[in-house]
Amino acid sequence: MPSKPAILIARKVFPDIVDHLRAHFEVEMNDTDDVYSPAQLIERLQGKVGALTTGSERIDAAVAAACPQLRVVANIAVGFNNFDVPALSAAGVLATNTPDVLTETTADFGFALIMATARRLTESEHFLRAGQWNRWSLDMFAGAEVHGSTLGILGMGRIGQAIARRGALGFGMKVIYHNRSRLDAATEAECRARYVDKATLLREADHLILVLPYSAENHHAIGAAEIAQMKPTATLVNIARGGIVDDAALAQALRERRIAAAGLDVFEGEPKVHPDLLTVPNVVLTPHIASATMQTRRAMAKLAADNVIAYLTEGRPITPLNAEIIGKGARE
Ligand code: DGY
Repeated sequence: MPSKPAILIARKVFPDIVDHLRAHFEVEMNDTDDVYSPAQLIERLQGKVGALTTGSERIDAAVAAACPQLRVVANIAVGFNNFDVPALSAAGVLATNTPDVLTETTADFGFALIMATARRLTESEHFLRAGQWNRWSLDMFAGAEVHGSTLGILGMGRIGQAIARRGALGFGMKVIYHNRSRLDAATEAECRARYVDKATLLREADHLILVLPYSAENHHAIGAAEIAQMKPTATLVNIARGGIVDDAALAQALRERRIAAAGLDVFEGEPKVHPDLLTVPNVVLTPHIASATMQTRRAMAKLAADNVIAYLTEGRPITPLNAEIIGKGARE
């Protein structure tokens, strides 16, 4: 029997997903959560036609050139800033991500962070656990109102829209958004969201949530200058990507109470966290878990696996990022 083509799973995934892939391929797997170094990744990719990756593995022109048999890379993530898609297209490597399956789960988490940040959940729990609660007072941990306030959304893709619906329909919030391109009128009406320029968004939002993809253009989209335009009572939540916020500038602004509080699920240089963020009280910190429910993480891994299977067996990936190369320069 001819041997099956070989693929690499670069991070530990669910055993049944590995079995699903083994029905089609010889599978080599990193069965730890340790990230391969760039050199190890290239070494492991030798002879592999496909790979499942996460946001931790950088796949660019150098990887494509060093791994001439590689035909498809499937990110187990909707974000794909770890891929240099133009370089992969030029090299004929198909790239895929995992949209849709995580939208509602991630929006739920975005809202959880808005609530936790506005209502000072982490700060008050630390106070209680430290045994400091010895009497009740009227203004103890008084936070910011969520219902009826103005929700600002920077980045209005699928997840931004799902957050807008939660805010408008669930919490009676006035929703404003800024995005590279304005939504069509029907989608704006359905999300009950009003398009504004970035300066208005910063100025008017009571709670600002970031849901835009990371790109060089969006690096430090929120830094000291942008924070200075926000209300001193405002909160800021980042569930997008580290690097969109200047974490050092944010920590300083939080310490000086130039905004009320922040909620962060993503960090520059994660899993490291800027040390100043660890010492300010008015910030809720979580370790990049916005899409982390078992159902959703399983759905993401399954979609990535199905993308590899569908492309390598039938030439039809489910959620490609550069479908234009199929039949026009894609490696065979
Ligand atoms: C995503 O899907 O992009 C999440 O951030 C997990 O990496």
